[in-house]
Amino acid sequence: MNPINKQTCQARLETLLARYLPPDDGSTLIKAMHYACLNGGKRLRPYLAYQSAALFNTPLEIIDPIAVAIEFIHCYSLIHDDLPAMDNDELRRGKPTCHKAFDEATAILAGDALLTLAFEVLAQAPIRENYLNNLKIIHNLAQAAGPTGMVKGQALDLAAQGKQLSYEQLCQMHRAKTGALIAASVQCGAIAGDASKTDLEELHKFGLAIGLAFQIKDDILDALGKSETMGKTPGQDVKNQKCTFVTLLGLHHAEQSLAECYTQSLAHLASFGQKAEALRSLSAYIVGREI
Ligand code: IPE
Ligand code: IPE
Ligand code: MG
Ligand code: MG
Ligand code: MG
Repeated sequence: MNPINKQTCQARLETLLARYLPPDDGSTLIKAMHYACLNGGKRLRPYLAYQSAALFNTPLEIIDPIAVAIEFIHCYSLIHDDLPAMDNDELRRGKPTCHKAFDEATAILAGDALLTLAFEVLAQAPIRENYLNNLKIIHNLAQAAGPTGMVKGQALDLAAQGKQLSYEQLCQMHRAKTGALIAASVQCGAIAGDASKTDLEELHKFGLAIGLAFQIKDDILDALGKSETMGKTPGQDVKNQKCTFVTLLGLHHAEQSLAECYTQSLAHLASFGQKAEALRSLSAYIVGREI
């Protein structure tokens, strides 16, 4: 039996994040960190880590600090993504964005603090006393978040504003800004589960495919979704002259690319048989979601 589902993962993360965040000391910085984390995200990256680890019968408790670190990195990325200098968004997870609820300087620092805290949590959480696996996880997440991963993707996203990219460049940008952290979430769960090299390689390809699918769907939702369900303002990509699957290729081709990524993601789960059912459902959810 699978020990976790999307709902129980959300509840588990709410408790874990509250436990790992610095306690509220009345300071604006800590309040902003709590505000940006304890606000009802889907927690899909942690869920990917738990489900990837479940393929190797890894206890949930082993994944907990990894799940927290991944979600801290994700929440930091959202705070900074929403800043006036980036996407200038005012609504996130159904509430005012961090810089609106507090101020810009506080939002920048809360993001910085969450990113740093993520690595502090990881460094203090040996995976079954296996420090080598611990280092591999830290390395994976650092690569996914940093200048060859998300930060690079965000820089490409800003540089592409008002410009046309080739299809290949667009895929590269999406893989970096969103795919890398999603792929690393899958990867870290598998490393904690002591997966073989072959399994790790298949899961990495699965993660990249579903990571790209995730951002294509996000682009589609920006064009079609509703603020009440998504908790963020649609139409921002056109307004900000972003280069996305929808703005560059149109809805029809974006849907086609999404379907291709979905098919690819499933192909990389084939070798895991029945054990990967939860990851298959998660892929289906990612491409079908309305939020
Ligand atoms: C939104 O991510 C940002 C992107 C990378 C597209 P999510 O859709 O996972 O956001 P939350 O965590 O559920 O709010
Ligand atoms: C965000 O992409 C990618 C991140 C690294 C946070 P978007 O800018 O499309 O995400 P949303 O639509 O604001 O959530
Ligand atoms: Mg953005
Ligand atoms: Mg944005
Ligand atoms: Mg978007």
